[in-house]
Amino acid sequence: KQEVFEMNNLLLEVEGPIAVLTINRPKALNALNSETLTELNEVLTEIEGRDDIKVVILTGAGEKSFVAGADISEMVNFSAAEGRAFGMRASEPFFKLQNMRQVTIAAVNGFALGGGCEISMACDIRIASENALFGQPECGLGIIPGFGGTQRLARLVGMGRAKEMIFACQNIDAAEAYRIGLVNKVVPQEELMATAKKLAGKIARNASYAVAIAKAAINNGYDMDIKNAVEYEANLFGMTCSTHDKTEGMTAFLEKRKEKNFTDF
Ligand code: CAA
Repeated sequence: KQEVFEMNNLLLEVEGPIAVLTINRPKALNALNSETLTELNEVLTEIEGRDDIKVVILTGAGEKSFVAGADISEMVNFSAAEGRAFGMRASEPFFKLQNMRQVTIAAVNGFALGGGCEISMACDIRIASENALFGQPECGLGIIPGFGGTQRLARLVGMGRAKEMIFACQNIDAAEAYRIGLVNKVVPQEELMATAKKLAGKIARNASYAVAIAKAAINNGYDMDIKNAVEYEANLFGMTCSTHDKTEGMTAFLEKRKEKNFTDF
């Protein structure tokens, strides 16, 4: 049974533990305007509150573009204050994608430029179709990446690569994005959603609470020094040791039982 919710610029389809969230502005190649960012924030808040959804797959409508950036026709008349506010408006839903208890997978089905590259980088995992194109063209527009690009790109691929891509507006294809570790996998367009759903299914079969805690451990530990980070991990590890799911997962192993009934989340 599938649930479908339509907003002005987004489409949400929920089937079992997997939600597919589609940026749906094909006329503008799914560019992110203020309304889309507001809707995104609302829908992610809803999803976060749902215990039945374990994985969110983010994609773009059509076969050409994932997200072609922030909306240039909206930004063209921005003042400094409006630009700052626009960046902060994206920051809230982007941090939700990064830190929400559900796992987020970007299924990048074409152009991932500017804000498109940036929103994909806010997700936990990126899978790209062969026609995907990644880049930060902002410096060619007289601005800088404003939805986290200067920060998340450097963290994902290293400073040298990030600086080259941003300073030279150097777009990279899916194969190069894979080579430098920006995407986890590249598949033909027609296999993209099936591949993302297969991975989502594998994740959803594991103990969701443990996965959510592992996500927090990786995200929050990343910016700590190694000693504090490992101690933080020990704290979270200890927390997972007292859960129902730990008893269930380990008992199932010892009983040589394949089916597990994980209930924490
Ligand atoms: N904002 C607003 N509209 C956009 C858009 C964007 N980022 N990208 C594409 N569109 C619109 C086009 O204006 C066009 O609209 P019309 O039909 O009304 O003219 C429609 O989408 C189709 O686009 P094209 O005709 O340009 O399609 P194409 O196949 O010839 O080119 C493309 C595709 C190479 C992606 C090209 O559209 C392009 O270069 N887009 C802009 C990419 C970009 O610079 N993105 C970064 C934006 S800045 C940013 O994101 C800032 C930030 O970090 C906050």
